[in-house]
Amino acid sequence: MTDIITIVGARPQFVKAAVVSKALKEAGISEQIIHTGQHYDARMSAVFFDELGLPAPSVNLAAGSGLHGKQTADMLEKLEAHLIALSSPPSFMMVYGDTNSTLAGALAAAKLHIPVIHIEAGLRSFNRKMPEEINRVVTDHLSTLLFCSSDGGLKQLASEGITEGVHVSGDVMYDAVRTFSEAYSGDFRKQLALEEAFTLPDRFLLFTLHRPSNTDSDEALKNITGALSETDLPVIWPVHPRVRSRLDAITLPKNLRCISPVSYLMMLQLLKACEGVLTDSGGLQKEAYWLQKPCITLREETEWTETLHGGWNVLTGPDPARIRAALSQKPGSEWKTLYGNGRAAESIATIISDCLNV
Ligand code: UD1
Repeated sequence: MTDIITIVGARPQFVKAAVVSKALKEAGISEQIIHTGQHYDARMSAVFFDELGLPAPSVNLAAGSGLHGKQTADMLEKLEAHLIALSSPPSFMMVYGDTNSTLAGALAAAKLHIPVIHIEAGLRSFNRKMPEEINRVVTDHLSTLLFCSSDGGLKQLASEGITEGVHVSGDVMYDAVRTFSEAYSGDFRKQLALEEAFTLPDRFLLFTLHRPSNTDSDEALKNITGALSETDLPVIWPVHPRVRSRLDAITLPKNLRCISPVSYLMMLQLLKACEGVLTDSGGLQKEAYWLQKPCITLREETEWTETLHGGWNVLTGPDPARIRAALSQKPGSEWKTLYGNGRAAESIATIISDCLNV
C-alpha cells in the first residue's frame, strides 16, 4: 500500500513537491505523484521535473485548461476513477496551495474517506473573488492534517473552528530557495542570451503577472504595464501563457522586455541578480523577501502579510499612481527571517511518519 498520493498540477506545486518528496523518501514514506495536467506546456511543467529531481508522476490526468467548473470537474472525475481502481487506497492524499488541482485532489479524496494533508494551510486573502481563496477555504475544511507556514495560519484556522491536526511547519518554498538558489550550473546570462537573443542588462527589475483580475482586463493590463515606463531601469518579464495572447492589443513601454516562461533555477538567478520585483504571484513575494529584494505587489491584498514588514513588500493594486510611488520607495534596513528555518519539509515528514505509525 502507498503511504501518500500527492497531487500536483501547477508550476509552484512542482517546486514545493520537489523538497517534500525528498524529505518523505528520506523518512521512509512511500509516495506516488499524480499530475492533473493543469499546466502542460514544457516550460510550465516538464522543465521543473527535470531540473528539480521530482519523481516522474505515475499518472497524468491531462485535464488541461478550461473554465473553472470544467477544469476542476475533469480532474475530479478522472482522479476519482483512478483512486477507486487502486487495489488499496493510500493512507493519505497530499495537496499543495490553492489551485484547482488542490481543490480537485482534496474533494476526490475526502469523498472516498482518504484523509487529506494540506500544505500551506490557513492562508487567506479575504477576497472571495479570487478563485484561489475559494480553493483554500474548502481544502482546509476537508483536511485532516494541516501544515501552516506561520502562526498566522494557525490562528486563522482556529478562528474557523479548525484546531485538530494543525501544525506550524514553516514554508517549504523557503526550503526550496535554500536548496536550489546555488544549483544553477553554467552561466545563466549566456543561456538567456542564447534562448531569447538578448543581453540581460546588469541592472534590471523582474516583473510577472498572471492573476485574472490583472490580466483579463485590458484596462488593468494597460495601467500596470504603462506605469513601468516610469522607471529608468529595464524591466524583464517572463510572460505566463495565459497573458501572451492578450498582449497583441496593447502597446508596451520600450523598457519592458518580454521573454518566455523560465525554469525555477533560472528564476532564482534572475531574482538574485535583479534590483527589485513587481508581481501578483504569491510565491514570488516570499522569494523576493527571502533573497532581500524589494517587492511591489500588484494586488490590493496579500496572504503573505508578514512580507510587508519593514517595507520590503508594498501593495499597489493595478493603480499606476501607486505603482509609480512604490517604484521610488526603498525598503527599511530591518529584515528578519520569515516562515520558518528552511527545514519545513523535514518537520512535515516527521509528523506524517508519526501519524503513519500510530
Ligand atoms: C494557476 C492557479 C494559480 C497559480 C498559477 C501558477 C488556479 C485557479 N490558479 O493559474 O493559483 O498561481 O496556476 O502559475 O488553479 N496555459 C497554457 N499552458 C499551460 C498552462 C496554462 O497555455 O501549461 C494557459 C491556458 O490558456 C489557460 C491559462 O493559461 O487557459 C490559465 O491556466 P490555468 O492553469 O487555468 O491557471 P493559471 O493562470 O496558470
